Amino acid sequence: MIRAVIFDLDGVLVSTDKFHYQAWQMLARAEGIPFSREDNERLKGVSRMESLELILKRSPKTFPEETKLAMAERKNTHYRELLKKLSPADILPGVREFLATLRSRGIRAAIGSSSKNAVPILEAIGLAQAFEAVADGTRIRKSKPDPEVFLLAAGMMTTPPEHCLVVEDAEAGVEAGLAAGMKVLAVGSASTLPRATYGARNLSEADPNLVLA
Ligand code: BG6
Ligand code: MG
Repeated sequence: MIRAVIFDLDGVLVSTDKFHYQAWQMLARAEGIPFSREDNERLKGVSRMESLELILKRSPKTFPEETKLAMAERKNTHYRELLKKLSPADILPGVREFLATLRSRGIRAAIGSSSKNAVPILEAIGLAQAFEAVADGTRIRKSKPDPEVFLLAAGMMTTPPEHCLVVEDAEAGVEAGLAAGMKVLAVGSASTLPRATYGARNLSEADPNLVLA
């Protein structure tokens, strides 16, 4: 019986991928590193610094720590600029209805995201009040696929992992949810991953009676 649902943010509640892509692409171009949409897929669920490391691997140069921190900062400034376009219209299909179902059944809801921008994003889309707990990149040491962020969210709601359902769109996040001992509903490009407990194209296609059982 599911008592709490922990939602990843980027790609589950709102589509920010295109903004991450544009911001990383700006940085990669400046360094002469090839960076495609496919490369961007691999950064889903991965923290900012780890994403940067993955991009810089393709460069023949090595970069001092200080330079890498400045690059990550530059990417984030550009990303935050692009986020100014976000509004409640960017909430993904089925999210509002799924949250309403949880409220009507007395099931708790939290965020489990690797992002350090989770709070401003939730505010921009008008969902800041919809979650009892926000576990995000500002509060964890190890990023997905480590289960830390989901265990933190479950702890904040005092709900044992076996009664939690994670909703994820990234392979690293699906693995993190499973490693936390939780059920995982995979959506978007993760929906066909065989290791996920359930799969649905988006939240509007997920059957609450199945995934909340
Ligand atoms: C995750 C995204 O939610 O957050 C990743 O899927 C991103 O692509 C990560 O790198 C960290 O985000 P931020 O906002 O802290 O740079
Ligand atoms: Mg995601």
